Amino acid sequence: MKKILVSGGAGYIGSHTVQALAEAGYGPVVLDSLITGHREAVGKDIPFYQGDITDEGLVSEIIKKESISAGIHFAARSLVGESVQKPDLYFEENTAKTNRFVNTLLQCGVNKIVFSSTAAAYGNPKEVPIPEESKTEPINPYGASKLMIEQSLYWLEQAYGLKWMALRYFNAAGAAWDGSLGEDHTPETHLIPLVLKTALEQREAISIFGTDYDTPDGTCIRDYIHVLDLAEAHIRALETLEQGVACGAYNVGTGTGYSVREVIAMAKGVTGIDMPILEAPRREGDPDILVAKVEKIQRVLSWQARYSDLETIIKTAWRWHQKHPHGYGK
Ligand SMILES: NC(=O)c1ccc[n+]([C@@H]2O[C@H](COP(=O)([O-])OP(=O)(O)OC[C@H]3O[C@@H](n4cnc5c(N)ncnc54)[C@H](O)[C@@H]3O)[C@@H](O)[C@H]2O)c1
Repeated sequence: MKKILVSGGAGYIGSHTVQALAEAGYGPVVLDSLITGHREAVGKDIPFYQGDITDEGLVSEIIKKESISAGIHFAARSLVGESVQKPDLYFEENTAKTNRFVNTLLQCGVNKIVFSSTAAAYGNPKEVPIPEESKTEPINPYGASKLMIEQSLYWLEQAYGLKWMALRYFNAAGAAWDGSLGEDHTPETHLIPLVLKTALEQREAISIFGTDYDTPDGTCIRDYIHVLDLAEAHIRALETLEQGVACGAYNVGTGTGYSVREVIAMAKGVTGIDMPILEAPRREGDPDILVAKVEKIQRVLSWQARYSDLETIIKTAWRWHQKHPHGYGK
């Protein structure tokens, strides 16, 4: 059985990927500081180590003890607004810490890594859908901190033969089929959980930031990707790295976008609850439309989104929120 070290495996996307890895016959091993993650999100039968990715002693001990063959690296800070306030924190927590983590992996003989990158690496898109070759000009430190990691992985490949893939996720959403795992971020900044929390009356209204964008209904359009599809993309990425296929960055999205109003309308349909809406001014730095071009990942990784239609995304997320109205262990 191939053992995979999953940093950030107790987080939202990490926990779903850990479960998918175990179901696919891999042996996931989780390393998580629990700074934003939840111990309850990782099954009791999965080896779990609480610690920071920069704890070289711990990371090398895990690699040796668990005979790790590859890494999937989710651990990061990912609040865009916070990154603008504290860019130093993001370059330290994301860029510098990843550099040390990957260095430890390499020192211990682990030379394959799948890394969580982001559509934020592109900044304002020059063309939509956005192809991977598009210019990367992040407009916030979060996106910049992730892009710098991609660049460092490229140079580590040239110097030491690191095999890497950076998956540039668009908007992760949805939850496990049975509602046992789902999104529990504090603060929550993502649209779908915020809409569903409004349906549960944990929030007074759902805000729409900007109704005058250059889109059919005036609200921003985003590409939502089901967390289970994302999890599968990581497994395909590992398999493809094993086969020695080219390293690099891959978009993970559907190629289809939904507007904020469409998301709210679908959430009303799924929940049967008519939540109050608050129309607010635009937020700085929100592009009109962010939609992935997905031809590369479909072709090279033979991966295709299967669960990412908006109804399935919201139905699964709603099941999670109904079962866990206050998140994990609360
Ligand atoms: N959620 C999205 O829509 C989205 C979109 C694009 C990219 N991403 C990226 O995907 C990854 C996972 O996102 P998520 O939404 O699951 O976030 P999350 O906050 O739920 O998960 C991150 C996990 O990493 C852990 N962690 C953070 N720093 C650590 C450190 N130094 N050492 C050990 N563990 C640490 C946290 O405790 C948490 O469990 C992140 O890298 C994020 O930037 C997420």
